[in-house]
Amino acid sequence: MGWLEDTSVVVTGAGSGLGLAIVERFAAEGASVVAIDKSAAKLAELQARAGERIATITGDVRDYADNERACELAVQRYGKLDVFIGNAGIWDFNESLAGTPASSLATGFDELFAVSVKAYLLGAKAAQPPLAASRGSMIFTLSNAALYPAGGGPLYVASKHAGLGLVRQLAYELAPDIRVNGVAPGGMATDLRGPEALGMDRTSISDAVPIDEMLRRHSALHRAPRPADYVGAYVLLAARQESATVTGTVIDVSGFGTPARPADHAGTR
Ligand SMILES: NC(=O)c1ccc[n+]([C@@H]2O[C@H](COP(=O)([O-])OP(=O)(O)OC[C@H]3O[C@@H](n4cnc5c(N)ncnc54)[C@H](O)[C@@H]3O)[C@@H](O)[C@H]2O)c1
Repeated sequence: MGWLEDTSVVVTGAGSGLGLAIVERFAAEGASVVAIDKSAAKLAELQARAGERIATITGDVRDYADNERACELAVQRYGKLDVFIGNAGIWDFNESLAGTPASSLATGFDELFAVSVKAYLLGAKAAQPPLAASRGSMIFTLSNAALYPAGGGPLYVASKHAGLGLVRQLAYELAPDIRVNGVAPGGMATDLRGPEALGMDRTSISDAVPIDEMLRRHSALHRAPRPADYVGAYVLLAARQESATVTGTVIDVSGFGTPARPADHAGTR
C-alpha cells in the first residue's frame, strides 16, 4: 500500500528532470497522474512506458486554458483532483545584472516570470475549484533561490522569491479548504533551460555547468543529488494523512542553508 493510493494529481513540467521523477514516484505510491509539458516529444516517451495511471497533455503553462484542460482531464479520468503540482520552470544561468544587455533585460524578465510566477498563479486558479471540492492541496517547486542569493541571477532569484510569496498568500486565502506548500530543491543535473529572449533556450544546465562536481564540492553534504532524491518532500505534502496540518510552508530540501565545511574538516564519503 503506497502513500498516495486514491490520489489524483496534476504535475506541470512533467516531461523531464524533477517533474518526471515526481510523476514516476507518485505513480509508484499509488497516485493517478496527469502530466503536462510543452514538449510533446518528452511526453510521448513517458506515455510509451506509462501505465494507465498516467495521462499526458501537451500544453504551455503560461496559458490558463492549458492549465484548465489538465485539471479537467484529471477530474474526468480519475473522478476528482487532490493535488496540483506547479513545477515547470526555466533558469537564467546565473546571468548577473551587469552581464545582461539592457536590450533583453525586460523581455528576459517577462519570459522567466511568465513561467516561474504567472504560470503558477494560472495553475492555482484552474485547480482551485476541484481542489476545494476534494479538500486537496497545491505544491509549488521553488528552489534554494527562493530562500538564498546566488542560486541564479536576479531574474531567477527574484522569480523564485515571488513563488514563496505566492505560497504564503494562497495558503492564507484558500484555507481552510486547500493546503498550499512549496518545496525548495537545490541543484541537479536536468534539462533545465533558459529564456529564449536571453538566447538560453538551446542549452541545458547539464550541458552548460559542471553541476554535479560543483554540488559535490560546495554543498554541506558533499553530494550531487538526482531529481528522485528531492521527491520525498512532495510525497509527504501530497499525502493528506501525513501532513494534514501543514500549509503555507516551504520544505527546504536543498541543504543550502548549511555552509559547506572546509574539505579537510568534512567527513569522508
Ligand atoms: N535543475 C536545478 O538545478 C534546479 C534547482 C532548483 C530548482 N529547480 C526547479 O525545478 C523545476 C523543474 O526543473 P528541472 O530542473 O527538472 O528542469 P527540466 O527542464 O528538466 O524540467 C522542466 C520541464 O518544464 C517544461 N516547461 C518549461 N517551460 C514550460 C512551459 N511554458 N509550459 C509547459 N512546460 C514547460 C520543460 O519542457 C521541461 O520538461 C523548475 O521549477 C526549476 O526552477 C531546478
